[in-house]
Amino acid sequence: MERLPYYQLLHILSLIVLTAHTFMAFANPAPENRKRTMMITGIAALLMFISGFGMLAVQKIPFATGWVIVKLVCWLGLASLAGVAYRRTELRGTLSVIALALIATAVLMVYFRPF
Ligand code: HEM
Repeated sequence: MERLPYYQLLHILSLIVLTAHTFMAFANPAPENRKRTMMITGIAALLMFISGFGMLAVQKIPFATGWVIVKLVCWLGLASLAGVAYRRTELRGTLSVIALALIATAVLMVYFRPF
């Protein structure tokens, strides 16, 4: 059985959900939506993490690889941003720039694997 495409699909779909709901929190950080957003972004982040490690396992890529560590840091940052948006609504503009930078860095790591 070829598992890699399933992990890739899960990785991309959860990335889209995590990104969409994070930017929804930036656009409208209404307290009544907080619980739902935290749940959805939490589950999406978990699925991204699982599928990421699934792909590493299938391809026998060591965890202690430069680009993997960088992606892990980007993932940690991105997963935490929605929560910050609800607590510090005045920072939303900056947070959206940070979110984009983290996503760009992580995607760059995959396609160029500079280290
Ligand atoms: C903000 C965080 C992240 C973003 C934006 C991101 C994005 C992507 C994208 C666009 C791809 C290429 C499509 C694909 O091959 O499926 C990919 C592949 C991959 N990602 Fe992530 N990812 C993130 C976090 C992680 C984490 C935390 C891990 C590992 C623990 C990880 C491991 C991988 C691996 C192993 C691949 C497959 C590379 C290959 O196809 O050979 N990613 N990621």
